[in-house]
Amino acid sequence: MGTIPHHIAIVMDGNGRWATRRFLPRVAGHKKGVDALRACVRHCGERGVKVLTVFAFSSENWNRPPEEVSGLMELLAVALAREVPALKAEGVRIQFVGDRSALSEKVRAGLAQAETATAANTRLQFNICFNYGGRWDIAQAAAKLAARGEPITEKALDGEMALAHVPDPDLLIRTGGEKRISNFLLWQAAYSELFFSDKLWPEFDAAALDEAIADFGQRERRFGKTSQQVGSPAKKAA
Ligand code: IPE
Ligand code: IPE
Ligand code: MG
Repeated sequence: MGTIPHHIAIVMDGNGRWATRRFLPRVAGHKKGVDALRACVRHCGERGVKVLTVFAFSSENWNRPPEEVSGLMELLAVALAREVPALKAEGVRIQFVGDRSALSEKVRAGLAQAETATAANTRLQFNICFNYGGRWDIAQAAAKLAARGEPITEKALDGEMALAHVPDPDLLIRTGGEKRISNFLLWQAAYSELFFSDKLWPEFDAAALDEAIADFGQRERRFGKTSQQVGSPAKKAA
């Protein structure tokens, strides 16, 4: 399978289109998206991925029709209540990343409960970005340093970022055909390998994930260096 990415980040896009194509309400697509996510978490664990970070609700998604926003909030609460026991048993540690202040008491309690229940797990770190935006993240990190009167350096900012508990993503996948970041991990994706899939998120199965991982295995990551500097011994000899 080649090199397995330590950290995979995913923009799970295309739920709405999946539903609309079937003449279903958009929320039905989000429900199907939860099924795809469950399978994805499981498969990441099986493949030895150590960190999975998914984009579930962006800072800008509040601008959607109110019934879709409330449907997503409800779905989050329901999915957590249903899925957390199994995830706990499978060694998955859940953490939420984003601005919780705008979320309802009920949703916040659900998030805290899921985090506490899985806090001792170490097999797979599962970050759920909810009410998250890359710009929000950079701004909140800078605000923390400023409030303490500390110099705003790259290292200091990095330490205050909402994903400071994990290394940067190695592979960033976006499903649904769009080739954009949509305010996801602006800071952390500086050197991530990008993979765009035309599959809608509810259709993104284990085989599709394996395809992305295999593609990652073929990439040469240079981090600004030359090919010769980073190349494998075989490549260096060539
Ligand atoms: C992604 O699917 C999930 C969320 C943004 C919550 P979309 O709902 O954006 O699906 P499309 O892009 O409209 O098909
Ligand atoms: C990005 O998808 C956000 C999530 C997947 C949660 P969007 O569907 O909101 O992105 P745009 O609007 O197409 O850029
Ligand atoms: Mg979308």
